[in-house]
Amino acid sequence: MSAVPISVTTLAAMKSRGERIACLTCYDASFAHLLDAAGVDLLLVGDSLGMVLQGHATTVPVTVEQMAYHAGCVSRGRERALVVADLPFLACATPERALDNAARLMQEGGAQVVKLEGGATMLETVRRLTDQGIPVCAHLGLLPQSVHRIGGYRFQGRDHASSEAIRHDALAMQDAGASLLVLECVPATLATEVSVTLTIPVIGIGAGAGCDGQVLVLHDMLGLNPSRPPSFSRDFMSGHDSIAAAIAAYVEAVRTGSFPAVNETPY
Ligand code: KIV
Repeated sequence: MSAVPISVTTLAAMKSRGERIACLTCYDASFAHLLDAAGVDLLLVGDSLGMVLQGHATTVPVTVEQMAYHAGCVSRGRERALVVADLPFLACATPERALDNAARLMQEGGAQVVKLEGGATMLETVRRLTDQGIPVCAHLGLLPQSVHRIGGYRFQGRDHASSEAIRHDALAMQDAGASLLVLECVPATLATEVSVTLTIPVIGIGAGAGCDGQVLVLHDMLGLNPSRPPSFSRDFMSGHDSIAAAIAAYVEAVRTGSFPAVNETPY
């Protein structure tokens, strides 16, 4: 019996039933098959591939062509999981450019949802994409594509002004038509509040256990990252003798809310 494919509607229904959503980054067909079989709901073709696959120090060098290529690899390997692909650095410099690039990710790459980083300045773009029937995943908090402006990979939303901006932008993204929101590296109390307030699913990374779902970079949670993994990640290979078992343990830990634990929640 083939599995029923997940859609943005399925994820919204999971949120309303209080079922947590398990997401991992994924960049190729073999891992897509494995993650899908282990029950991962959402495969994020993240521009983190620039760091973990290509060896760059940031995601800035990643191109739309590369994202479409990897999205295609992942789409061909999955059966049930929803494929979300990142619009990389400057791919959304104008709403028109975002529309063309989203079309490439969907038509060449088979992506079902596109993700874009940014708040207020991206609202017009989110409206433009959703008006054309393109499901959008917004991304707030730490925005890795802005690392040179921020001056490093720092937690966001820790002072009044910045937490207010995240609250405001999250609601505005939902109102503009976004179907999902990724919240990266923000305090757990803020992430929980945003998750409870929004009707769309909120997927956290470094944002505590109160979100509707969790995402990790695949190479971090498999202990494959040669550099020190982030403090909010967990090595799921430890204690497991296969990648499939490690992924299944991750899905279980997300579903039960045992990941992230308090010591994996920096703020
Ligand atoms: O590119 C990526 O992998 C991401 C996740 C870290 C959320 O955006």
